[in-house]
Amino acid sequence: MYVYKKTCLISDDELLKYITQLEPEMARVETTIQKQDFSTPYAWVNLPTFYEYHASCKKLIEEKKALGIDVLLLIGIGGSDAGARALYQAIHGVMGNADFKNNILLYCADTIDSGYTQELVTLVEGFLQAGKKVLINIVSKSGSTTETVINAAIFYDLLAQYRPNDARELVVVTTDEHSPLAACARHNNFSLLIVPTHVGGRYSVFSAVGLFPLGMLGIDIDAILQGAAAENNLCTQVSFDNKAAVRAALLYAHYARGIVIHDLFIFNPAWTLLGAWYRQLMAESLGKAGQGILPTVSLGTVDLHSVAQLYLGGQKNRFTTFLMSKNNISSMTIARNAFSNGIQAGGLALGTVQESIIYGVTQAYYKEHCAYMTIALQNQSLYELGVYMQSSMLEIVYLAYLMGVNPFDQPQVELYKREARAFLAL
Ligand code: PA5
Repeated sequence: MYVYKKTCLISDDELLKYITQLEPEMARVETTIQKQDFSTPYAWVNLPTFYEYHASCKKLIEEKKALGIDVLLLIGIGGSDAGARALYQAIHGVMGNADFKNNILLYCADTIDSGYTQELVTLVEGFLQAGKKVLINIVSKSGSTTETVINAAIFYDLLAQYRPNDARELVVVTTDEHSPLAACARHNNFSLLIVPTHVGGRYSVFSAVGLFPLGMLGIDIDAILQGAAAENNLCTQVSFDNKAAVRAALLYAHYARGIVIHDLFIFNPAWTLLGAWYRQLMAESLGKAGQGILPTVSLGTVDLHSVAQLYLGGQKNRFTTFLMSKNNISSMTIARNAFSNGIQAGGLALGTVQESIIYGVTQAYYKEHCAYMTIALQNQSLYELGVYMQSSMLEIVYLAYLMGVNPFDQPQVELYKREARAFLAL
């Protein structure tokens, strides 16, 4: 669980008004959970307790692990890879692959860019030349996203060159059962994991989209799912304990006052990609029909020396959420030497310094009348991350309801996809 505080200009009465307005939407979520209904775009709510489905993902994870995989290449973009990457980084930190305790290394192919793609090809080829086993997980709900399909073609070709005899068993396709990619997987005998039809990309982290790569990487997926499932018990009541509803109400109260920027200020470098995941979720779910909130992500403490002056001294046009973990306190103590003597920091715990900075920032926001709330995870465990992600998806769905937009489509993104395919005559 996480604790939550707010410091803003909005009264509790106003917040309660918006939370109460959410009742029909909360009832829809509740019915979806009670009936374990997978027939609407709210289906994703049930993923954390879809045990049969988890079992089928775990079965394939065990099968593929038994092949002795060294490198996992995740091919996907947007909602099809952001969640898994965020969780992997949250657990393994920004140094990620440099942690040699990880058995399987993770690389991701998303962006198409001649230089970047070539660099990745060279890297993966190096692994293959060294005799390493590379498993490719191609993830696309639609099965037709240009970047993903092109990356799949490039990297499967590479794999087949170096492993002509077992390339097929080194591929796992994750997609909708009716997509062209599913047809391709069936035709070529690639392992296939299905994303339930009504689960959309950015709400799919707890489907095979996230579970397969995370499980392959040795991450305890049950712990994440338990956290996410626990959040379902709290998200449908008109109450200040309903964190998703409170978060949505706070954001909406500011949006109604013309605040159209939401800055997620993260105090943990390992959560940078978690910030990117949230950014995509918010932007793509709410930015439509002439509405939307611009999500930005700032990273403490480095951005205090970059954008904090603007935030505190510039226009008061943003709402900030500070995201931190309560027990992020390292036991490291600052050495007493020529450097620390100058600022009398020798002997202080690093965690105390960190705490003082966070305290200083929130006090400065308060004194400069910058609206903010704080989300403090109890710790950095997988369980807490599961809670946070499920709560964020619910927050966005509730916020969309208050704003009167559909959180599940992305018509203008589809427009770019169609135009690019037409240009390539695909
Ligand atoms: O959230 C979404 O729906 C999008 O961000 C998609 O995940 C992204 O466009 C990739 O689409 P697909 O999974 O169909 O390849």
